Amino acid sequence: MNEAPREQWGSRLGFILAAVGSAVGLGNMWRFPYFAAENGGAAFVFLYIFMVALVGIPIMLAEFAIGRGAKKSPIQALAHFGGRRWKPLGVLFVAGGFLILSYYAVIAGWTLRYLWNALITGFAGDPAAFFGQVSTGGDAVAWHLLFMVITITIVAGGIRGGIERSAIILMPLLFLIVLGLAVFASTLDGAGAGYAFYLTTDFREIFSLDVLSEATSQAFFSLSLGMGAMLTYSSYLSRDDNMPREAVIIAGSDFLIAFLAGLMVFPLIFALGLSEQLSGSTIGALFIGLPNAFAEMGAVGRPVGVLFFFALFVGALTSAISLLEVVVAAIIDTVRWPRRKAALIMGVLITLAGIPSAFDITVLGVVDQIAGNLFLVFGALCLAIFVGWVMPDPIAELRRGGERVAWLPLWYGFIRYVVPPLLLLVLYFTVRATFEMIVGLFGG
Ligand code: TRP
Repeated sequence: MNEAPREQWGSRLGFILAAVGSAVGLGNMWRFPYFAAENGGAAFVFLYIFMVALVGIPIMLAEFAIGRGAKKSPIQALAHFGGRRWKPLGVLFVAGGFLILSYYAVIAGWTLRYLWNALITGFAGDPAAFFGQVSTGGDAVAWHLLFMVITITIVAGGIRGGIERSAIILMPLLFLIVLGLAVFASTLDGAGAGYAFYLTTDFREIFSLDVLSEATSQAFFSLSLGMGAMLTYSSYLSRDDNMPREAVIIAGSDFLIAFLAGLMVFPLIFALGLSEQLSGSTIGALFIGLPNAFAEMGAVGRPVGVLFFFALFVGALTSAISLLEVVVAAIIDTVRWPRRKAALIMGVLITLAGIPSAFDITVLGVVDQIAGNLFLVFGALCLAIFVGWVMPDPIAELRRGGERVAWLPLWYGFIRYVVPPLLLLVLYFTVRATFEMIVGLFGG
């Protein structure tokens, strides 16, 4: 029925950078450093690497096997290998992308707003009061809207002309900025205290199932797994990519940036910022502690602030693009709208859905817990079962690249027998945390 040939990435590098662009985002710069600092420091970092290797890379390969194998968007791809009864999972993926983007774009709007301030006025006055003023209400909606306009424009431009092109320009730039700022931060007086706050090891913390399950859902969020984003991106590949190698490169780059983000953020805050803000909220440190640090820094504060918020914005943008692409690809495949129409209409609906989050940070937190944690763990569990037990011969699909990858049989055994029970356990803890959060809201 669909006569237009399916879009494809222009190059292997383009695909990798777009996938890294999806992975690297606010999750790296904002969630990861704080989880690490609060949950055992360097010990958490090792636990995280372990979980990325144990479940992150296997689930990424599962998504690649389905996406590249079917060359379809999530709903159709699941039906392709598993029959109609798997369509609801695809619908859940699309709903997840929709919901995650709705609040993600609100936070991304703040990054744009702060970038604007860094460029035009600098940061003066009371940073906490400023954050309170711009993070909710009309201001937040305005910047959220602007951010969505940029995202929609790029997705409307298509795989090669929009998504790939922006990733090829933006991702190397992002990496250089984060690296440069981390090196700069190491020269500051507070660097030692910042590193200590970030990495001081506490092994007791990591031997808790709560921390284990947080590390797992953080790995899914950071690697964009569990809702079909990597599945969708891999559906635009030609057959000859070596998927296991790409998965390791993508996961490794994502970890590297998350780790560097911690090395950048904490020394800056401990040198000049309001380190008391750290315990209060994780968002607070980025949007309150750092602007304060930039204001205190004198002449260098302005360029450093501009670079920092530019990097945050770029990370958020390339991630938001992938979230919108999941929804748009599904609409193109099912309703058969042209790409531009799908991007515009779905983008507008997602923007509207984000307005409650822009008015109330509690709503933002709840949607994050449900769509950004719970859905992903559940989605990843279903993906493991699907690829391990339903899809015919996923190993053959992953071997199409030609190279023999010795560990693929190991991967398959893992995805069948180890990942599902592990994720069931994580799911239990995630459901419990979600429940507690909701009860806490009503119980006061
Ligand atoms: N990985 C991105 C980040 O770390 C967010 C993101 C983009 C995402 N696409 C996703 C999260 C798909 C879950 C699923 O900020």
